[in-house]
Amino acid sequence: MLRGLWGCIIAALCAVVVGTGFYEGARDVVELTAKDFDKVVHGSNYTSLVEFYAPWCGHCQRMKPSVEKAARRLAGVAQVAAVNCDLNKNRGLCREYNVEGYPTVMLFKPPRVPLARNASENRAGDSGAKTPRLSRHVHEVYNGARRSSAMVNYVLARLKNYVRRAGRLERFGAVLRDRMRPCILLLSKDEKSPPLYKAMALDWLERVDFYAVHNRRWTKQIASNSNSSSEFPQLYPATVEELNNKILPQLQDSNYTTSILLAFHPETDTVVEYPASQPLTKPLVAQFIRDQFDGILPQEGPLSDRQRWLDKLREAPKDRGRPKAKRPAVHDEL
Ligand SMILES: *[C@@H]1O[C@H](CO)[C@@H](O)[C@H](O)[C@H]1NC(C)=O
Ligand SMILES: *[C@@H]1O[C@H](CO)[C@@H](O)[C@H](O)[C@H]1NC(C)=O
Ligand SMILES: *[C@@H]1O[C@H](CO)[C@@H](O)[C@H](O)[C@H]1NC(C)=O
Ligand SMILES: *[C@@H]1O[C@H](CO)[C@@H](O)[C@H](O)[C@H]1NC(C)=O
Repeated sequence: MLRGLWGCIIAALCAVVVGTGFYEGARDVVELTAKDFDKVVHGSNYTSLVEFYAPWCGHCQRMKPSVEKAARRLAGVAQVAAVNCDLNKNRGLCREYNVEGYPTVMLFKPPRVPLARNASENRAGDSGAKTPRLSRHVHEVYNGARRSSAMVNYVLARLKNYVRRAGRLERFGAVLRDRMRPCILLLSKDEKSPPLYKAMALDWLERVDFYAVHNRRWTKQIASNSNSSSEFPQLYPATVEELNNKILPQLQDSNYTTSILLAFHPETDTVVEYPASQPLTKPLVAQFIRDQFDGILPQEGPLSDRQRWLDKLREAPKDRGRPKAKRPAVHDEL
């Protein structure tokens, strides 16, 4: 009887320590174990920020709100994960990364993907044995401030960028002709590519090419070139007309306070504008791209198998800490 009660108390204490699982309730921080670490961190083209922690550590507890806030702000842009080094099953993992104190925050940067030049090159690659290339990410210890803004800026400065600058009009025409892949072009109100746009380019890597034009320079060029013999009109007659008659006036009217997204079809030589009434969010843009380009799907992010897998991983109630029950009878006793 007494033993039973004692067991209860210990079990309850354990449940508190283990069950509060630190980030269990945080939607944007994914708790990882040795089992899923490689697949989540190294098996992605995304940059990841990983906190190695122990639940009892005071610094970790104080940093927790900052990590959660940083994760919210980086949602969809970079992965934010946590590893509880107090768990037996994670000890080896924490040793592997030389974690000596808590919290240790590390950045994992993916290798640069050498992109195939065109879609046919892609297809040739795909027809071979499909072995996923799992190159290891390089990691570095984050030594900055433990404020969310500091962590966010640190990560944003280290994102992989596959967004190409559309550059001069003539060159863009040539680019569109050479590349057989579908293209997305952002006429951006900002001077730099928004992090979310870089993330979209990652999601569709090697499937759809992402270009951006920042500021007005290029659109002015289109206006002045519309009657010239530049390659652009020859490539996309519909495009230039639309750019001139519809999109440019719209940009001027809005004083360039909104961004405009265009989808270029390489095979049909047409351009489609993303509905101005829709916000430019990742899930909506993903649907737009899929609908534009024959149901093509991204390898990461919304609509991808990987995203579905990640969502499941987040939701799965993890049997953290407690060793797998080998003899259920023991537990029945409690
Ligand atoms: C990264 O993207 C490339 C190009 O699409 C792809 O071949 C590779 O498998 C991706 N890497 C990972 C780890 O998903
Ligand atoms: C695509 O790339 C391959 C290999 O570099 C090349 O042989 C082929 O001509 C290219 N196709 C087009 C349409 O550019
Ligand atoms: C521009 O093109 C339009 C129709 O293509 C034509 O009517 C007009 O004369 C041209 N303007 C100049 C300045 O070439
Ligand atoms: C655009 O900006 C100019 C100068 O800043 C201003 O006078 C004009 O009203 C603006 N137009 C719109 C449509 O906001």
